[in-house]
Amino acid sequence: MAILVTGGCGYIGSHTCIELLDAGYEIVVIDNYYNSKPEALRRVKELSGKEFPFYECDIRDAEGLRRVFSAHKIDAVIHFAGLKAVGESVQKPLTYYDNNVAGTVVLCQVMAEMGCKRIIFSSSATVYGTGNPSPLKEDMPTGAVTNPYGRTKFMIEGILSDLCVSDPEWSAVLLRYFNPIGAHESGRIGEDPNGIPNNLMPYISQVAIGKLPKLSIFGDDYDTPDGTGVRDYIHVVDLARGHVKAVGYALAHTGAEPINLGTGIGYSVLDLVNAFKAANGVDVPYTIAPRRSGDVATCYSDPAKAAALLGWKAEKNVEDMCRDTWRWQSQNPKGYDE
Ligand code: NAD
Ligand code: UD1
Repeated sequence: MAILVTGGCGYIGSHTCIELLDAGYEIVVIDNYYNSKPEALRRVKELSGKEFPFYECDIRDAEGLRRVFSAHKIDAVIHFAGLKAVGESVQKPLTYYDNNVAGTVVLCQVMAEMGCKRIIFSSSATVYGTGNPSPLKEDMPTGAVTNPYGRTKFMIEGILSDLCVSDPEWSAVLLRYFNPIGAHESGRIGEDPNGIPNNLMPYISQVAIGKLPKLSIFGDDYDTPDGTGVRDYIHVVDLARGHVKAVGYALAHTGAEPINLGTGIGYSVLDLVNAFKAANGVDVPYTIAPRRSGDVATCYSDPAKAAALLGWKAEKNVEDMCRDTWRWQSQNPKGYDE
């Protein structure tokens, strides 16, 4: 019995591999290294003290996938592999639809052919779009997305739901992540963005270490307590543990189930900057800049469904998130390129 982890070399995937191994699962990992480096999995092996098979394989390569499924008895797939840069998706929509949507279709075709019909999919809070009030609940309408990346998540949720309707043996857990930040508390693995980060936490930590001069806060005139955007930041290790619970759920249930993975707590940009400074004793210079197009004022989850169905709840707080991000950043100033 093994779990196939697609995109397992990436930020969330590498943390999930550790939690799966710690929980006693056997894993098989595939990745095409588009946005990751072999060093991440070397450190996963070092931290877990366990070996596991890895294949450099693209999810769009049906023959490559067949070889993996033929070599191992795969019971379920956790599907992280995908492109995730919102701005890039606006510039290169076809690349995103090909990699994320067509790639998922190929993966599911091979899974069905090989008799593995349980998938845990990395969706995003972005599927709730702009029209819903927080706290966001799974039964709210989805699809009013603002960019091609978000549309790939919405489309894949629809594809996996259709698959479950067509064949009652399929199980699809659609995990809607809120804002994953933080790193493994060892400081050995973490987020290693290429170039200038788009997301808030890696930007803050690169300012704190002096790689970037200052943070631009995108808007201070939102209808929020301090005027800056509010988000539901979740520690990546909590998120990873949610996947371990989701595997248990997928092995025991069929049908498609969207489930939020968030803390249910909203922090503003200024809250996060202040928490980072306080937790780590570092300075984070910032300036107020215009709003970023496509941003919403407030986005946080109702995490009750994850508690009810998965028996999962986020346990780490914002101080843990800030401290662990900084440990990773300060011990690995060049990410995995040491
Ligand atoms: P990541 O880029 O660090 O990891 C994704 C991994 O998938 C990378 O290692 C990349 O090389 C691999 N990959 C991409 N396309 C592939 C392909 N065609 N074949 C094989 N491997 C491929 O990203 P992450 O932050 O770990 O995110 C994992 C998943 O979660 C993604 O699907 C992402 O869209 C989703 N997600 C992430 C966030 C976030 O804030 N990080 C939020 C919501 C959803
Ligand atoms: C973004 C994506 C979302 C994706 C998520 C995780 C957009 C519109 N949404 O969400 O689809 O799932 O990342 O990858 O891009 N901020 C600053 N300065 C910065 C960076 C961010 O002020 O340099 C602010 C933003 O305006 C926002 C908050 O920080 O209020 C969080 O931003 P970010 O980390 O990019 O996440 P989201 O916008 O929530």
